[in-house]
Amino acid sequence: MKILYFTGTGNSLAVAKRFEAELLSIPQMINNNEYVVEDDIVGIIYPVYAFSIPNIVREYLKKCTINSKYTFVIATYGNTAGGSLHEMKKLLAQNGNKADYYEKLLMVDNYLPFFDIDKQLENLGKKNIEENLSQIVDEVNLKIPKRERSGILNNIFSAISAVTICKLEKYNPKMFYVNDECIGCGICKKVCPVGNVFQGGKDKPVFGKECESCLSCTHNCPKNAIKLKYQMSDKRFRNPEVSLNEIIMANESFE
Ligand SMILES: Cc1cc2nc3c(=O)[nH]c(=O)nc-3n(C[C@H](O)[C@H](O)[C@H](O)COP(=O)(O)O)c2cc1C
Ligand code: SF4
Ligand code: SF4
Repeated sequence: MKILYFTGTGNSLAVAKRFEAELLSIPQMINNNEYVVEDDIVGIIYPVYAFSIPNIVREYLKKCTINSKYTFVIATYGNTAGGSLHEMKKLLAQNGNKADYYEKLLMVDNYLPFFDIDKQLENLGKKNIEENLSQIVDEVNLKIPKRERSGILNNIFSAISAVTICKLEKYNPKMFYVNDECIGCGICKKVCPVGNVFQGGKDKPVFGKECESCLSCTHNCPKNAIKLKYQMSDKRFRNPEVSLNEIIMANESFE
């Protein structure tokens, strides 16, 4: 089994790690110019962004050829997945790919402009993450088929989002503010999947204009020195099953 994944704060990687599979980070696949994935079973695990698909995942899958007997897709999300899986089905078809199994998994929402991490962690039990994840893992290991079933209204909504919010969501670099807690360690640069963080004066980060808005830099800063102009709280999140080093390995650019 091989799994293509993308992650900012570890939820999607934590799900991928539950399978006995070779894990292939999409940013690293792009770095290595690898656009063919072949195995008996191939999985795609990604976070829902703006009810749709992160741009980096979309652009990669437009070019990727998947040769498998069974392909599965899991979208991790924090509140409302909309028609993200339907968008994925259309995206796969663009390059002659198709999946046999589609499922979404409700997890912690890492989108700081809308959600307070503390409040979410308090109510985490209601999301039944472990129970739902175990069921997904069992279904995939048994190669059970499951069709995409987002519903027509969600699909229309997400199709609009895909060409509006997802295209426009690149943050203005001024949306980030770095305070004096910064020690210039460069971790924010290492966890950025698109090489959008540069080190400036006293090695403080400077943000470019190619942001995926994954918030990996913001959540993974060891000093909590990166603030968003609009954030619901100061609490940060990384999935407890995933280490900082694993996020770096997944996202660091080696140009
Ligand atoms: C830019 C951005 C947009 C998001 N949009 C949505 C959304 O539309 N619906 C939703 O339920 N969660 C949304 N989320 C939350 C993530 O999908 C969720 O927290 C996911 O599990 C994060 O996965 P990761 O830890 O692998 O990065 C968004 C997160 C980010 C950073
Ligand atoms: S990760 Fe945080 S402390 Fe380290 S350089 Fe970036 S902003 Fe500064
Ligand atoms: S700058 Fe931060 S939010 Fe933007 S893509 Fe890089 S890690 Fe993600």
